[in-house]
Amino acid sequence: MQLHEKIPNNVTLHEDRRLLRALERWLPNYLKWWKEAGPADFQADHIYLRTATSVDAKGWANFDYVKMPDYKWGIFLALPEQDRRIPCGDSLGKPVWQEVPGEFRNALRRIIVTQGDTEPASVEQQRLLCESAPSMYDCRNLFQVNVEEGRHLWAMVYLLHAHFGRDGREEAEELLERRSGDFDKPRILTTFNEPIDDWLSFFMFTMFTDRDGKYQLLALAESGFDPLARTTRFMLTEEAHHMFVGETGVGRVVKRACELMKQDPNEDARAQGGMDLPMLQRYINHWYSSSLDLFGGEISSNAANYFAAGLKGRAHETKKFEDHIALESQYEMEVLEAGQVVTKSVPMRNAMNEVLRDAYIDDNQRGVDRWNKIIRNAGIDYELRLPNRRFNRKMGIHTGHCFDLAGQPITDEQFQDRCDGWLPTQQDKTYVKSLMLPVLEPGKMAHWIAAPARGINGLPIEFEYVRRV
Ligand SMILES: [Fe+2]
Ligand SMILES: [Fe+2]
Repeated sequence: MQLHEKIPNNVTLHEDRRLLRALERWLPNYLKWWKEAGPADFQADHIYLRTATSVDAKGWANFDYVKMPDYKWGIFLALPEQDRRIPCGDSLGKPVWQEVPGEFRNALRRIIVTQGDTEPASVEQQRLLCESAPSMYDCRNLFQVNVEEGRHLWAMVYLLHAHFGRDGREEAEELLERRSGDFDKPRILTTFNEPIDDWLSFFMFTMFTDRDGKYQLLALAESGFDPLARTTRFMLTEEAHHMFVGETGVGRVVKRACELMKQDPNEDARAQGGMDLPMLQRYINHWYSSSLDLFGGEISSNAANYFAAGLKGRAHETKKFEDHIALESQYEMEVLEAGQVVTKSVPMRNAMNEVLRDAYIDDNQRGVDRWNKIIRNAGIDYELRLPNRRFNRKMGIHTGHCFDLAGQPITDEQFQDRCDGWLPTQQDKTYVKSLMLPVLEPGKMAHWIAAPARGINGLPIEFEYVRRV
Protein backbone atom coordinates (compact mmCIF):
# COMPACT_ATOMS: atom_id res chain seq x y z
CA MET A 1 0.00 0.00 0.00
CA GLN A 2 0.79 3.56 -0.60
CA LEU A 3 0.82 5.49 2.65
CA HIS A 4 2.51 8.30 0.74
CA GLU A 5 -0.62 8.82 -1.34
CA LYS A 6 -2.85 11.69 -0.36
CA ILE A 7 -5.84 9.37 -0.16
CA PRO A 8 -4.66 5.76 0.28
CA ASN A 9 -7.10 3.42 -1.42
CA ASN A 10 -7.68 0.10 -3.10
CA VAL A 11 -10.23 1.41 -5.59
CA THR A 12 -7.74 2.60 -8.24
CA LEU A 13 -8.60 6.22 -7.58
CA HIS A 14 -5.74 7.39 -9.80
CA GLU A 15 -7.58 5.95 -12.80
CA ASP A 16 -10.58 8.18 -12.25
CA ARG A 17 -9.27 11.74 -12.37
CA ARG A 18 -12.63 13.39 -11.82
CA LEU A 19 -13.43 11.38 -8.76
CA LEU A 20 -9.92 11.81 -7.38
CA ARG A 21 -10.14 15.57 -7.84
CA ALA A 22 -13.54 15.72 -6.18
CA LEU A 23 -12.27 13.80 -3.16
CA GLU A 24 -9.11 15.90 -3.02
CA ARG A 25 -11.31 18.97 -2.87
CA TRP A 26 -13.31 17.43 -0.04
CA LEU A 27 -10.16 16.53 1.94
CA PRO A 28 -9.27 20.07 3.22
CA ASN A 29 -12.89 20.54 4.32
CA TYR A 30 -12.71 17.25 6.13
CA LEU A 31 -9.48 18.31 7.89
CA LYS A 32 -11.07 21.60 8.84
CA TRP A 33 -13.95 19.65 10.37
CA TRP A 34 -11.54 17.32 12.20
CA LYS A 35 -9.63 20.23 13.75
CA GLU A 36 -12.79 22.05 14.72
CA ALA A 37 -14.98 19.18 15.88
CA GLY A 38 -12.51 16.38 16.60
CA PRO A 39 -10.60 15.79 19.87
CA ALA A 40 -10.32 19.04 21.84
CA ASP A 41 -6.67 18.46 22.71
CA PHE A 42 -3.67 16.28 21.74
CA GLN A 43 -3.87 17.26 18.06
CA ALA A 44 -0.15 18.10 17.97
CA ASP A 45 0.93 15.04 19.97
CA HIS A 46 2.18 11.70 18.78
CA ILE A 47 -0.39 8.97 19.23
CA TYR A 48 0.33 5.28 18.72
CA LEU A 49 -2.39 4.47 16.18
CA ARG A 50 -3.45 1.79 13.78
CA THR A 51 -3.93 2.86 10.18
CA ALA A 52 -5.69 0.69 7.62
CA THR A 53 -3.38 0.09 4.69
CA SER A 54 -5.03 -2.76 2.78
CA VAL A 55 -7.75 -5.38 3.14
CA ASP A 56 -5.34 -8.27 3.42
CA ALA A 57 -6.59 -10.50 6.26
CA LYS A 58 -3.02 -11.29 7.31
CA GLY A 59 -1.96 -7.71 7.88
CA TRP A 60 -4.32 -4.96 6.97
CA ALA A 61 -3.02 -2.27 9.29
CA ASN A 62 0.08 -0.39 10.26
CA PHE A 63 0.81 0.65 13.87
CA ASP A 64 2.92 3.73 14.50
CA TYR A 65 3.07 7.14 16.12
CA VAL A 66 1.11 9.70 14.19
CA LYS A 67 -0.24 13.17 14.82
CA MET A 68 -3.99 12.87 14.41
CA PRO A 69 -4.40 15.56 11.72
CA ASP A 70 -1.72 13.67 9.71
CA TYR A 71 -3.61 10.37 9.96
CA LYS A 72 -4.13 8.77 6.55
CA TRP A 73 -7.84 8.30 6.12
CA GLY A 74 -8.04 5.88 3.24
CA ILE A 75 -10.73 4.20 1.17
CA PHE A 76 -10.75 0.43 1.35
CA LEU A 77 -13.36 -1.97 0.06
CA ALA A 78 -13.26 -5.68 0.85
CA LEU A 79 -12.19 -7.69 -2.19
CA PRO A 80 -15.00 -8.41 -4.65
CA GLU A 81 -16.62 -11.79 -4.42
CA GLN A 82 -16.57 -13.62 -7.76
CA ASP A 83 -19.99 -13.71 -9.38
CA ARG A 84 -21.74 -12.37 -6.30
CA ARG A 85 -25.54 -12.52 -6.41
CA ILE A 86 -28.19 -10.46 -4.65
CA PRO A 87 -28.57 -12.38 -1.39
CA CYS A 88 -32.21 -11.63 -0.54
CA GLY A 89 -35.52 -10.12 -1.53
CA ASP A 90 -37.41 -10.06 -4.80
CA SER A 91 -34.27 -10.03 -6.95
CA LEU A 92 -32.66 -12.93 -5.11
CA GLY A 93 -30.01 -14.64 -7.22
CA LYS A 94 -29.60 -11.91 -9.83
CA PRO A 95 -26.11 -10.43 -10.26
CA VAL A 96 -25.33 -7.69 -7.71
CA TRP A 97 -25.35 -4.07 -8.88
CA GLN A 98 -22.09 -2.25 -9.41
CA GLU A 99 -23.97 0.96 -10.13
CA VAL A 100 -26.98 2.36 -8.29
CA PRO A 101 -30.25 1.11 -9.83
CA GLY A 102 -32.38 4.15 -10.72
CA GLU A 103 -35.45 3.01 -8.82
CA PHE A 104 -33.50 2.63 -5.57
CA ARG A 105 -31.38 5.72 -5.86
CA ASN A 106 -33.19 7.75 -3.20
CA ALA A 107 -33.47 4.89 -0.77
CA LEU A 108 -29.78 4.03 -1.12
CA ARG A 109 -28.71 7.61 -0.75
CA ARG A 110 -30.76 7.90 2.41
CA ILE A 111 -29.24 4.70 3.82
CA ILE A 112 -25.69 5.85 3.06
CA VAL A 113 -26.19 9.38 4.37
CA THR A 114 -27.80 8.17 7.60
CA GLN A 115 -24.98 5.71 8.21
CA GLY A 116 -22.37 8.30 7.23
CA ASP A 117 -23.83 10.91 9.57
CA THR A 118 -23.36 8.78 12.69
CA GLU A 119 -19.59 8.48 12.08
CA PRO A 120 -18.53 12.14 12.50
CA ALA A 121 -21.35 12.61 15.03
CA SER A 122 -19.73 10.20 17.48
CA VAL A 123 -16.36 11.96 17.12
CA GLU A 124 -18.08 15.24 17.96
CA GLN A 125 -19.92 13.75 20.93
CA GLN A 126 -16.63 12.49 22.36
CA ARG A 127 -14.42 15.49 21.71
CA LEU A 128 -13.93 16.53 25.33
CA LEU A 129 -13.22 13.06 26.72
CA CYS A 130 -9.47 13.31 26.07
CA GLU A 131 -9.26 15.88 28.84
CA SER A 132 -10.15 13.29 31.47
CA ALA A 133 -8.74 9.99 30.18
CA PRO A 134 -8.29 7.43 32.98
CA SER A 135 -5.00 6.28 31.43
CA MET A 136 -2.74 6.77 28.46
CA TYR A 137 -3.89 3.41 27.13
CA ASP A 138 -7.53 4.54 27.23
CA CYS A 139 -6.73 7.92 25.74
CA ARG A 140 -5.11 6.16 22.80
CA ASN A 141 -8.08 3.85 22.37
CA LEU A 142 -10.42 6.83 22.30
CA PHE A 143 -8.37 8.40 19.51
CA GLN A 144 -8.23 5.08 17.67
CA VAL A 145 -12.01 4.89 17.70
CA ASN A 146 -12.23 8.56 16.64
CA VAL A 147 -9.89 8.33 13.64
CA GLU A 148 -11.62 5.16 12.47
CA GLU A 149 -15.04 6.77 12.71
CA GLY A 150 -13.46 9.47 10.56
CA ARG A 151 -12.42 6.80 8.07
CA HIS A 152 -15.94 5.40 8.08
CA LEU A 153 -17.16 8.82 7.07
CA TRP A 154 -14.67 8.64 4.19
CA ALA A 155 -16.06 5.23 3.25
CA MET A 156 -19.58 6.66 2.90
CA VAL A 157 -18.41 9.86 1.23
CA TYR A 158 -16.55 7.81 -1.36
CA LEU A 159 -19.82 6.05 -2.28
CA LEU A 160 -21.66 9.38 -2.48
CA HIS A 161 -18.99 10.89 -4.73
CA ALA A 162 -18.49 7.82 -6.88
CA HIS A 163 -22.13 6.85 -7.42
CA PHE A 164 -24.48 9.76 -6.77
CA GLY A 165 -23.15 12.63 -8.91
CA ARG A 166 -23.89 16.17 -7.84
CA ASP A 167 -26.45 15.11 -5.19
CA GLY A 168 -23.80 12.91 -3.66
CA ARG A 169 -21.25 15.72 -3.55
CA GLU A 170 -23.76 17.99 -1.85
CA GLU A 171 -24.58 15.33 0.71
CA ALA A 172 -20.85 14.90 1.37
CA GLU A 173 -20.54 18.62 2.14
CA GLU A 174 -23.53 18.52 4.43
CA LEU A 175 -22.02 15.64 6.36
CA LEU A 176 -19.30 18.09 7.41
CA GLU A 177 -21.72 20.90 8.15
CA ARG A 178 -24.07 19.21 10.60
CA ARG A 179 -22.83 19.11 14.19
CA SER A 180 -23.78 16.90 17.09
CA GLY A 181 -26.05 18.83 19.44
CA ASP A 182 -26.25 21.89 17.19
CA PHE A 183 -29.64 23.55 17.43
CA ASP A 184 -29.84 24.60 13.78
CA LYS A 185 -27.91 21.79 12.10
CA PRO A 186 -28.07 18.74 14.33
CA ARG A 187 -26.95 15.24 13.39
CA ILE A 188 -29.72 13.09 11.90
CA LEU A 189 -30.34 10.62 14.75
CA THR A 190 -31.29 11.95 18.18
CA THR A 191 -28.96 9.70 20.19
CA PHE A 192 -26.02 11.18 18.30
CA ASN A 193 -26.80 14.68 19.49
CA GLU A 194 -26.08 14.10 23.15
CA PRO A 195 -22.56 14.78 24.39
CA ILE A 196 -20.62 11.92 25.89
CA ASP A 197 -18.55 13.68 28.46
CA ASP A 198 -17.66 11.03 30.99
CA TRP A 199 -15.76 7.81 30.45
CA LEU A 200 -18.38 5.50 31.88
CA SER A 201 -20.76 6.80 29.21
CA PHE A 202 -18.04 6.39 26.59
CA PHE A 203 -17.57 2.73 27.48
CA MET A 204 -21.34 2.21 27.52
CA PHE A 205 -21.61 3.97 24.15
CA THR A 206 -18.92 1.81 22.53
CA MET A 207 -20.47 -1.30 24.06
CA PHE A 208 -24.11 -0.65 23.20
CA THR A 209 -24.49 2.18 20.69
CA ASP A 210 -21.49 1.34 18.53
CA ARG A 211 -22.76 -2.23 18.51
CA ASP A 212 -25.97 -1.00 16.91
CA GLY A 213 -23.59 0.36 14.27
CA LYS A 214 -22.06 -3.06 13.91
CA TYR A 215 -25.47 -4.60 13.21
CA GLN A 216 -26.41 -1.89 10.71
CA LEU A 217 -23.11 -2.63 8.96
CA LEU A 218 -23.83 -6.36 9.01
CA ALA A 219 -27.19 -5.68 7.34
CA LEU A 220 -25.53 -3.45 4.74
CA ALA A 221 -22.75 -5.99 4.20
CA GLU A 222 -25.52 -8.12 2.60
CA SER A 223 -26.62 -5.35 0.26
CA GLY A 224 -27.20 -6.08 -3.41
CA PHE A 225 -25.40 -2.79 -4.13
CA ASP A 226 -21.98 -4.34 -4.16
CA PRO A 227 -19.78 -1.28 -3.43
CA LEU A 228 -21.82 -0.70 -0.25
CA ALA A 229 -21.54 -4.34 0.78
CA ARG A 230 -17.79 -4.33 0.22
CA THR A 231 -17.10 -1.09 2.04
CA THR A 232 -19.16 -2.09 5.08
CA ARG A 233 -17.47 -5.48 5.21
CA PHE A 234 -14.14 -3.79 5.69
CA MET A 235 -15.56 -1.27 8.20
CA LEU A 236 -16.62 -4.24 10.33
CA THR A 237 -12.97 -5.25 10.66
CA GLU A 238 -12.21 -1.95 12.38
CA GLU A 239 -15.48 -1.91 14.29
CA ALA A 240 -14.44 -5.02 16.24
CA HIS A 241 -11.92 -2.91 18.16
CA HIS A 242 -14.62 -0.40 19.10
CA MET A 243 -16.74 -3.19 20.62
CA PHE A 244 -13.63 -4.39 22.42
CA VAL A 245 -13.02 -0.93 23.91
CA GLY A 246 -16.60 -0.83 25.21
CA GLU A 247 -16.86 -4.33 26.56
CA THR A 248 -13.44 -4.43 28.22
CA GLY A 249 -13.85 -0.83 29.42
CA VAL A 250 -17.00 -1.66 31.35
CA GLY A 251 -15.42 -4.98 32.37
CA ARG A 252 -12.49 -3.16 33.95
CA VAL A 253 -14.81 -0.82 35.85
CA VAL A 254 -16.71 -3.89 37.09
CA LYS A 255 -13.46 -5.57 38.12
CA ARG A 256 -12.33 -2.49 40.03
CA ALA A 257 -15.75 -2.19 41.71
CA CYS A 258 -15.32 -5.76 42.97
CA GLU A 259 -11.80 -5.08 44.27
CA LEU A 260 -13.00 -1.99 46.13
CA MET A 261 -16.01 -3.84 47.57
CA LYS A 262 -13.60 -6.30 49.14
CA GLN A 263 -11.72 -3.46 50.76
CA ASP A 264 -14.80 -1.91 52.31
CA PRO A 265 -16.41 -3.10 55.54
CA ASN A 266 -19.85 -2.67 53.96
CA GLU A 267 -18.81 -3.91 50.51
CA ASP A 268 -19.47 -0.38 49.24
CA ALA A 269 -17.33 0.38 46.18
CA ARG A 270 -18.49 3.98 46.10
CA ALA A 271 -17.31 4.57 49.66
CA GLN A 272 -13.88 3.51 48.41
CA GLY A 273 -13.91 5.95 45.50
CA GLY A 274 -15.08 3.50 42.84
CA MET A 275 -18.19 2.99 40.78
CA ASP A 276 -20.65 0.65 42.46
CA LEU A 277 -22.35 -2.21 40.64
CA PRO A 278 -25.95 -0.95 41.12
CA MET A 279 -24.94 2.31 39.45
CA LEU A 280 -23.33 0.41 36.58
CA GLN A 281 -26.61 -1.46 36.22
CA ARG A 282 -28.48 1.86 35.93
CA TYR A 283 -26.06 3.01 33.19
CA ILE A 284 -26.57 -0.28 31.38
CA ASN A 285 -30.35 0.17 31.57
CA HIS A 286 -30.08 3.63 30.05
CA TRP A 287 -27.58 2.95 27.27
CA TYR A 288 -28.98 -0.40 26.27
CA SER A 289 -32.55 0.87 26.00
CA SER A 290 -31.57 3.99 24.05
CA SER A 291 -29.44 1.89 21.68
CA LEU A 292 -32.37 -0.50 21.05
CA ASP A 293 -34.27 2.51 19.72
CA LEU A 294 -31.73 2.95 16.93
CA PHE A 295 -32.93 -0.17 15.14
CA GLY A 296 -36.17 1.57 14.12
CA GLY A 297 -39.78 0.45 14.32
CA GLU A 298 -40.62 -3.16 15.22
CA ILE A 299 -43.14 -3.30 12.40
CA SER A 300 -41.71 -1.33 9.55
CA SER A 301 -42.69 -0.98 5.92
CA ASN A 302 -39.36 0.75 5.24
CA ALA A 303 -37.51 -2.28 6.51
CA ALA A 304 -39.73 -4.52 4.38
CA ASN A 305 -39.05 -2.40 1.30
CA TYR A 306 -35.28 -2.39 1.84
CA PHE A 307 -35.28 -6.15 2.20
CA ALA A 308 -37.56 -6.69 -0.80
CA ALA A 309 -35.32 -4.46 -2.90
CA GLY A 310 -32.20 -6.28 -1.76
CA LEU A 311 -30.70 -3.08 -0.36
CA LYS A 312 -30.29 -4.51 3.13
CA GLY A 313 -30.24 -8.07 4.40
CA ARG A 314 -30.32 -9.62 7.83
CA ALA A 315 -27.05 -10.05 9.75
CA HIS A 316 -25.19 -12.92 8.05
CA GLU A 317 -28.08 -13.35 5.58
CA THR A 318 -26.29 -15.89 3.42
CA LYS A 319 -24.81 -17.97 6.24
CA LYS A 320 -27.56 -17.97 8.86
CA PHE A 321 -30.84 -18.07 6.95
CA GLU A 322 -32.41 -20.46 4.50
CA ASP A 323 -35.41 -18.56 3.23
CA HIS A 324 -33.99 -15.42 1.62
CA ILE A 325 -37.29 -14.28 0.16
CA ALA A 326 -39.17 -14.26 3.48
CA LEU A 327 -42.59 -13.75 1.93
CA GLU A 328 -44.34 -16.75 3.46
CA SER A 329 -43.02 -16.68 6.99
CA GLN A 330 -44.21 -14.84 10.08
CA TYR A 331 -42.42 -13.36 13.05
CA GLU A 332 -43.89 -13.81 16.52
CA MET A 333 -43.70 -10.54 18.37
CA GLU A 334 -44.71 -9.54 21.90
CA VAL A 335 -46.85 -6.44 21.87
CA LEU A 336 -49.01 -4.61 24.37
CA GLU A 337 -52.73 -4.86 23.68
CA ALA A 338 -55.38 -3.60 26.10
CA GLY A 339 -52.85 -3.50 28.91
CA GLN A 340 -51.60 -7.04 28.32
CA VAL A 341 -48.47 -8.31 26.65
CA VAL A 342 -49.65 -10.67 23.92
CA THR A 343 -47.94 -12.50 21.07
CA LYS A 344 -48.76 -11.35 17.59
CA SER A 345 -47.74 -12.67 14.18
CA VAL A 346 -46.19 -10.15 11.84
CA PRO A 347 -45.18 -10.77 8.20
CA MET A 348 -41.47 -11.54 8.32
CA ARG A 349 -40.42 -8.77 5.96
CA ASN A 350 -42.07 -6.16 8.14
CA ALA A 351 -40.23 -7.49 11.16
CA MET A 352 -36.71 -7.17 9.73
CA ASN A 353 -35.69 -4.47 12.22
CA GLU A 354 -36.76 -6.75 15.03
CA VAL A 355 -34.83 -9.69 13.58
CA LEU A 356 -31.71 -7.52 13.56
CA ARG A 357 -32.49 -6.37 17.11
CA ASP A 358 -32.68 -10.03 18.21
CA ALA A 359 -29.16 -10.70 16.95
CA TYR A 360 -27.96 -7.51 18.64
CA ILE A 361 -29.52 -8.51 21.96
CA ASP A 362 -27.83 -11.92 21.89
CA ASP A 363 -24.50 -10.31 21.13
CA ASN A 364 -24.88 -7.94 24.11
CA GLN A 365 -25.88 -10.81 26.37
CA ARG A 366 -22.59 -12.55 25.65
CA GLY A 367 -20.75 -9.41 26.82
CA VAL A 368 -22.86 -9.15 29.98
CA ASP A 369 -22.15 -12.84 30.71
CA ARG A 370 -18.44 -12.06 30.60
CA TRP A 371 -18.92 -9.15 33.06
CA ASN A 372 -20.81 -11.47 35.38
CA LYS A 373 -17.96 -13.92 35.23
CA ILE A 374 -15.63 -11.20 36.52
CA ILE A 375 -18.05 -10.61 39.43
CA ARG A 376 -18.37 -14.33 40.17
CA ASN A 377 -14.60 -14.83 40.05
CA ALA A 378 -14.25 -12.08 42.63
CA GLY A 379 -16.57 -14.08 44.88
CA ILE A 380 -19.29 -11.46 44.87
CA ASP A 381 -22.97 -12.27 44.75
CA TYR A 382 -24.37 -9.84 42.20
CA GLU A 383 -25.58 -10.14 38.65
CA LEU A 384 -25.74 -7.52 35.94
CA ARG A 385 -28.68 -7.87 33.56
CA LEU A 386 -29.98 -6.49 30.33
CA PRO A 387 -33.45 -5.09 30.90
CA ASN A 388 -36.29 -6.39 28.77
CA ARG A 389 -36.41 -4.84 25.29
CA ARG A 390 -39.65 -2.99 26.13
CA PHE A 391 -38.10 -1.10 29.03
CA ASN A 392 -37.70 2.69 28.64
CA ARG A 393 -38.21 2.84 24.90
CA LYS A 394 -38.62 6.16 23.10
CA MET A 395 -39.14 4.76 19.59
CA GLY A 396 -41.28 2.01 18.15
CA ILE A 397 -44.38 0.20 19.34
CA HIS A 398 -43.48 0.21 23.04
CA THR A 399 -43.20 4.00 23.18
CA GLY A 400 -45.69 5.73 25.39
CA HIS A 401 -46.19 2.67 27.61
CA CYS A 402 -44.33 1.99 30.82
CA PHE A 403 -42.69 -1.35 31.54
CA ASP A 404 -40.55 -2.59 34.39
CA LEU A 405 -37.12 -4.13 33.90
CA ALA A 406 -38.71 -7.52 33.23
CA GLY A 407 -40.95 -6.04 30.53
CA GLN A 408 -44.20 -6.18 32.54
CA PRO A 409 -46.60 -3.28 31.96
CA ILE A 410 -46.81 -0.78 34.83
CA THR A 411 -48.43 2.60 35.25
CA ASP A 412 -46.72 5.94 34.63
CA GLU A 413 -46.76 6.58 38.36
CA GLN A 414 -45.15 3.27 39.19
CA PHE A 415 -42.47 4.02 36.62
CA GLN A 416 -41.79 7.47 38.05
CA ASP A 417 -41.62 6.04 41.58
CA ARG A 418 -39.08 3.41 40.69
CA CYS A 419 -37.17 5.30 38.04
CA ASP A 420 -34.38 6.37 40.43
CA GLY A 421 -33.43 2.77 41.01
CA TRP A 422 -33.52 1.95 37.32
CA LEU A 423 -31.89 4.82 35.48
CA PRO A 424 -28.85 7.00 36.29
CA THR A 425 -29.82 9.68 38.80
CA GLN A 426 -28.54 13.24 38.91
CA GLN A 427 -26.49 12.14 41.88
CA ASP A 428 -24.94 9.30 39.88
CA LYS A 429 -24.03 11.65 37.06
CA THR A 430 -22.47 14.19 39.43
CA TYR A 431 -20.54 11.45 41.16
CA VAL A 432 -19.23 9.97 37.88
CA LYS A 433 -18.22 13.47 36.77
CA SER A 434 -16.31 13.98 40.02
CA LEU A 435 -14.16 10.93 39.21
CA MET A 436 -13.17 12.20 35.78
CA LEU A 437 -9.63 13.36 36.49
CA PRO A 438 -6.98 12.73 33.86
CA VAL A 439 -4.26 10.16 34.48
CA LEU A 440 -1.54 10.39 31.87
CA GLU A 441 1.50 8.65 33.28
CA PRO A 442 2.45 5.53 31.33
CA GLY A 443 0.94 2.41 32.93
CA LYS A 444 -1.03 4.31 35.62
CA MET A 445 -4.80 3.90 35.90
CA ALA A 446 -7.43 6.11 37.49
CA HIS A 447 -8.59 4.77 40.86
CA TRP A 448 -12.01 3.67 39.56
CA ILE A 449 -10.82 1.39 36.76
CA ALA A 450 -8.68 -1.75 36.66
CA ALA A 451 -5.73 -2.09 34.28
CA PRO A 452 -6.42 -3.88 30.99
CA ALA A 453 -5.30 -7.49 30.60
CA ARG A 454 -2.75 -6.50 27.96
CA GLY A 455 -1.52 -3.57 25.92
CA ILE A 456 -2.05 -2.68 22.27
CA ASN A 457 -0.41 -4.60 19.42
CA GLY A 458 1.55 -6.85 21.80
CA LEU A 459 3.11 -3.88 23.62
CA PRO A 460 3.17 -3.61 27.42
CA ILE A 461 0.48 -1.72 29.31
CA GLU A 462 3.20 0.76 30.39
CA PHE A 463 4.00 1.69 26.80
CA GLU A 464 3.88 5.40 26.04
CA TYR A 465 0.79 5.27 23.82
CA VAL A 466 0.47 9.04 23.85
CA ARG A 467 3.65 11.06 23.50
CA ARG A 468 3.08 14.69 24.34
CA VAL A 469 5.19 17.35 22.64
FE1 LIG B 1 -18.05 3.58 12.48
FE1 LIG C 1 -17.44 2.38 15.74
